[in-house]
Amino acid sequence: MSSETARVSAASPALYDPLRFNRKTPPCAVVIFGANGDLTKRKLMPALYRLAFEGRLAPGFAVIGMSRTAMTDDEFRDRMKEAVKKFLEDSPFDEDLWRSFAQGLFYRAGDVMNPDAYGELKRCLEEVDTARRTASNVLFYLSTQPSQYAPIAEGLGKAGLATGSGWRRIVVEKPFGHDLESARDLDAHLQQFFNESQIYRIDHYLGKETVQNILAFRFGNGIFEPLWNRRYIDNVQITAAESIGVEGRGAYYQEAGALRDMVQNHLAQVMATVAMEPSATFSADAVRDERAKLLRSVRVPKPEDVPLIAVSGQYGPGRVGGEERIGFRQEKGVDPESQTDTYAAITFRIDNWRWAGVPFYIRTGKELPKRVSEIAIQFRSAPLAVFRNNGTADDDASVPNLLILRIQPEEGISLKFVSKRPGLGMTLRPVSMDFNYGSSFGERSPAAYETLLLDAIVGDATLYTRQDMVEASWQAVQPILDDWASRKFDFPNYAAGTWGPKAADEMLARNGHTWRRP
Ligand code: BG6
Repeated sequence: MSSETARVSAASPALYDPLRFNRKTPPCAVVIFGANGDLTKRKLMPALYRLAFEGRLAPGFAVIGMSRTAMTDDEFRDRMKEAVKKFLEDSPFDEDLWRSFAQGLFYRAGDVMNPDAYGELKRCLEEVDTARRTASNVLFYLSTQPSQYAPIAEGLGKAGLATGSGWRRIVVEKPFGHDLESARDLDAHLQQFFNESQIYRIDHYLGKETVQNILAFRFGNGIFEPLWNRRYIDNVQITAAESIGVEGRGAYYQEAGALRDMVQNHLAQVMATVAMEPSATFSADAVRDERAKLLRSVRVPKPEDVPLIAVSGQYGPGRVGGEERIGFRQEKGVDPESQTDTYAAITFRIDNWRWAGVPFYIRTGKELPKRVSEIAIQFRSAPLAVFRNNGTADDDASVPNLLILRIQPEEGISLKFVSKRPGLGMTLRPVSMDFNYGSSFGERSPAAYETLLLDAIVGDATLYTRQDMVEASWQAVQPILDDWASRKFDFPNYAAGTWGPKAADEMLARNGHTWRRP
């Protein structure tokens, strides 16, 4: 190993494994604030257990859970065991492995708003460091109510926990602010105690295999990139449809709404991944610079244009998959007069040379007919419709080429084109060329949280958002948030189990487009 490689690897293990094959965590403690919450049970603990299963965790690994509920270490271990058994998707639960993993789990009850909690946490970290040899490396994971993020950063900073003889990092769950101004405020608070390289703002969509694969697809193949621009692409449709409602999160969701919950973060990041320029290298800053640059090119709509480019919806009662569903206003914790959007469809414009004139349509909603997230790239039609009006009744020859990147479920990619139907005449029909992850690789894809937790622990921020990206995407949606907050909508305007309000179809129709039915 050259001295240069040795120096780089000592400083940051992520840098000498650029394709990220053989990554293992260094020794460390992960402190989870909000350890008794849903995210810890459903996502974080199953992901950490799975990393243990894969042999990715160092022997000196520990988790310290903190929340207000009083619990002993053993009670915490029992609860986490139940959660992992219940929420571990598509992998086996191994009792022996659990026993050794659980020895590294600890719990401290504490109110994060009380400065004393951090003194207690500091003592606990010292004990755990001695017992488990965690090398004083600590990842703090903020999985609490967003209003507690700033106080926790301050508590950690004032207790001297933001620095130490090992590394210190802080992972902040979404939402990062509830508008542009609050996102800036939150960042200013965090930066008082942690510097940018220590702050990991998580957006779990970036950890999804299929979202990462967009980069592989675009930049690992030579044939698509030349077509990836305004000359060949007519419009792009990004859909994240959910067939569930707010599932007990009515109180949170009523304050958030679909635009804040999905569009500003997850779908803006997906759009950036689809539309960004290739980065010169796969290093965290190179990739994030390109994503940020793209998000900064998203046109910020003028207030008077908002009604033309944004559609807000809210579901009323209906049926999804044959099941009776109540309306949003009847959900627990929701105001019966609520003006919150459970559906949002936006036309974004990207003002750069590659994309000028190409609309990016983004839609998301709750209680839609099925769960499906996909990106549909619609190519321009052939310049001369030689097969049009060929005398047949089903004249399908004018169907434009479509490339579908399926994020979930049935992860994969399809290319749709027209083909001659067998027979003596010249009849054309759209056909599809399909790649399916499951059948092509026959391997399990890691869950987004597995990838992202491992990334944060090894110090690889490639798939984490940076403050400039967060601000750019708030900037792009802020006029829409302002407009919607000032209007009174005639809600509900779509029934559960339908594809959203009519106005969303009309928005595309004005450009001569229609939504693809996934
Ligand atoms: C979360 C939102 O960030 O993402 C939820 O708060 C949403 O409302 C979820 O259901 C969707 O994530 P996924 O991975 O199921 O598509």
